[in-house]
Amino acid sequence: MAEEMVRFGLLGAGSIAIYRHAPEISSHPCAKIVAIYDPITSRAEWLAEQYGGEVEASEKALLARQDIDAVVVATPNAHHARLTLAALKAGKHVLCEKPMATSLADAKKMLSAAKRAGRKLMIGHNQRLMPPHIKAKQLLRDGAIGEVLSFRTSFGHGGPEMWSQDKGAHTWFFKKEEAFVGSMGDLGVHKADLIRWLLDSEVTEVGAFVETLAKCNDKGQPITVDDNAVCILRLANGSVGQLTASWTYSAAEDNVTILYGTKGQMVIGANPEFPVEVMLRNGEMAQYKVGGVSTNEAQLPSGIPDAFIDAVLDDVEPEISGREGLKALAIVLACLESAASRQIVKVAY
Ligand SMILES: NC(=O)c1ccc[n+]([C@@H]2O[C@H](COP(=O)([O-])OP(=O)(O)OC[C@H]3O[C@@H](n4cnc5c(N)ncnc54)[C@H](O)[C@@H]3O)[C@@H](O)[C@H]2O)c1
Repeated sequence: MAEEMVRFGLLGAGSIAIYRHAPEISSHPCAKIVAIYDPITSRAEWLAEQYGGEVEASEKALLARQDIDAVVVATPNAHHARLTLAALKAGKHVLCEKPMATSLADAKKMLSAAKRAGRKLMIGHNQRLMPPHIKAKQLLRDGAIGEVLSFRTSFGHGGPEMWSQDKGAHTWFFKKEEAFVGSMGDLGVHKADLIRWLLDSEVTEVGAFVETLAKCNDKGQPITVDDNAVCILRLANGSVGQLTASWTYSAAEDNVTILYGTKGQMVIGANPEFPVEVMLRNGEMAQYKVGGVSTNEAQLPSGIPDAFIDAVLDDVEPEISGREGLKALAIVLACLESAASRQIVKVAY
């Protein structure tokens, strides 16, 4: 039966909860925050003061509450699958952050558990909801640049150590046991999702260099995950392209996608005034003023909680479902395998 009000429990009161989930949930007319758990209690307390809800003493206590319909999993990556499975088992809908899991096997378990429980599972792939990307998708559908033959998509900034609530070089983002993957899981997974969604075609093969070039932990040693990834992708529709993720673009964020088609090309996210630009072979040019691409410095509403709440209220499968999250994760895993084996790898879904 469809719900009328979605009552949330938040697992994790870090930056993504602070900047996006909590404000967006609490400002929704049909949603509210009921409980928050974070092992660092002061973070949960601060978030509860700002946006409401009670502070819970443990994951278990939060999941046992009968007055919660849905849970947001906004913890370090290594906990996503475990907490999602526990929440689904407790009968809650789940909005889980990306990357959804650290293995394909866990991602598949999450999908099966959601199906078994009859609950929604959505993954926080917010790039698709950014106005320039929505506009680009519409233009592509309308054939604005013809068939896309090749592309470049990039997401890089100076690193997560100033973003995370664990500020500095000791952040969990830099530790393999907590993060599993570095820039490729933090940023590359967004572009993996974006490119397959924009081009409406699955990534079939990848080749990748996934490197730790510069970032050091609090002991001055190289971090145990990647800080740069440069990947080549082949899609089922025959197009080929490049995906890059970086935590060492220290001067300015790069969140640009360029699509090269048979009739012309489209540049997304390069020109702040006109986030979508189309240049045609015949010399024509069109520029679209369509809202921005969110950056670490300029946070825009993600639209993710709204989409999740709508899916729960309307009792429909979320568009950015667990299955979609699995496909983006599969691309990341294939890139890691390619980097380790120095081989071109077929993506397993
Ligand atoms: N969709 C996006 O654009 C986007 C952006 C940033 C981060 N994220 C994702 O959100 C997740 C959280 O990242 P963040 O930036 O908020 O990091 P953060 O370091 O700011 O916060 C993580 C929080 O999780 C808490 N935590 C650790 N273990 C926990 C547990 N078992 N239960 C509850 N809380 C626990 C930590 O104490 C910390 O407060 C990550 O998976 C990250 O990849 C997504």
